[in-house]
Amino acid sequence: MELNFLSDNMTGASPEIIDALHKTNAGLLPAYGEDALTARVAAKLKDIFEADVTVFLVATGTSANALSLAALSPPFGAIYCHRDAHVEVDECGAPEFYTGGAKLVDLPGDHGKLSVTDIETALATAHQGVVHRVQPAAITLTQATEAGTCYRPSEVAAIAAAGRRYGVRLHMDGARFANALCFLAVSPAEITWRAGVDILSFGATKNGAVAAEAVVIFDNQLATDFAFRRKRGGHLLSKMRFLSAQLDAYLEGELWLKNATHANAMAKRLAEGLASISGARIVHPVEANEVFVDLPERTIQGLAADGFQVRRWIGEDQTLLRLVTAFNTKSVDVAKFINSARRHAGAAGP
Ligand SMILES: Cc1ncc(COP(=O)(O)O)c(C=O)c1O
Repeated sequence: MELNFLSDNMTGASPEIIDALHKTNAGLLPAYGEDALTARVAAKLKDIFEADVTVFLVATGTSANALSLAALSPPFGAIYCHRDAHVEVDECGAPEFYTGGAKLVDLPGDHGKLSVTDIETALATAHQGVVHRVQPAAITLTQATEAGTCYRPSEVAAIAAAGRRYGVRLHMDGARFANALCFLAVSPAEITWRAGVDILSFGATKNGAVAAEAVVIFDNQLATDFAFRRKRGGHLLSKMRFLSAQLDAYLEGELWLKNATHANAMAKRLAEGLASISGARIVHPVEANEVFVDLPERTIQGLAADGFQVRRWIGEDQTLLRLVTAFNTKSVDVAKFINSARRHAGAAGP
C-alpha cells in the first residue's frame, strides 16, 4: 500500500505549481534571476512581510539555512540551535561548511523549542572576547519545530532580545513556516522581523512546491554579499525562472496558506483520532502538520500488516512514530489509519 504519513517530502506538488512550470517553459527569458517573474516574487514577499526585504531564491532548505547562517556568523562564530534542529542533525555539516567553520552549539528544550533561559545561560557563559573560544554570532530557531510545535511571537521576541544583548543575530528555519503561520494566526511580519528575526528560510517545497525556497532578509545590510555567497555555493540557478514560477504560484491567491491550513487540519484530525485509542499517547502538542504518537507495539505491527509504512522515531526499537500530513493528504486516508490503529489496539470502534 502506498499510504503513509512518513514525510511531507514524499508528496508530489500542487497542480497550480506544476501548471506554472508549464506556463513559464515557453520562450526566452533573462537568466540568473534577471527576469520579471523573479522580480515579481520579491515584490510579493515584500508585500506579504510588509517590509523592504531582500529575497534570494534557492532550491533546497539546506542551502537556504547554510547560506543564511554564513551571512550571520564568521568562521569563528558560535551558532546556537536546538539539539534536534535540522541544521544540527540533518544537513551533513552544511552550516559549518558554508560558514567556513562556525560551531553549532546545541541546546536542549521541551517539545523542540529553545528556551530563553537556556540561551541566556549559554550566552552569559560563552566567554565573549576570549580568543580561545568561538564567539557568539547567531541563534537559529525552527518554525514550526522538528517536534511540530510553534514559537509564539512573544517567545521569538524574548529569544531575539536575549541574543541582541550579546550582539547575536536571529535566523529562522521556516521549512514549515506556512504551517506555523496558520496555526499561530498572526501576520508574517509579527512572527519574523517585528519579533527580531534577521533572516528567514521561507520554505515552499514541503507545502506544495517541487523544489523552491526563498531566503528572506529583513536587515538589508546582511544582504550585501549574499548574492556572491549564493553563487559561490552553487545555488544561483541559471534558469531561475523555474524557481520563481513555483514561488509565484505558491504565493498567488494564498495557495501557500490554503495548503498549510489543510495539512494542519489533517494532522489535528489524525491526532484527535489516535488520542482516543487505547494505549496511545500524543507526545508533543500538535500545532502544525506533524503528529508524534507513542503506540503499543502490537498496534504498530498491526498497522504495518495492514500495509501502512510507519517511521519509528528515532530507532527501530522505538514505539514513538512521527506522522506527517501534507497539502494533499486525504481525510479518507486519515480515517483508514485511525481505524486500523483502533482495530489493532483492540479498542471499541467509533
Ligand atoms: C526543519 C527543516 N529544515 C530544513 C529542511 C530542508 O531540507 P532540504 O535541504 O532537504 O530541502 C527540512 C527538510 O526536511 C526540515 O525538516
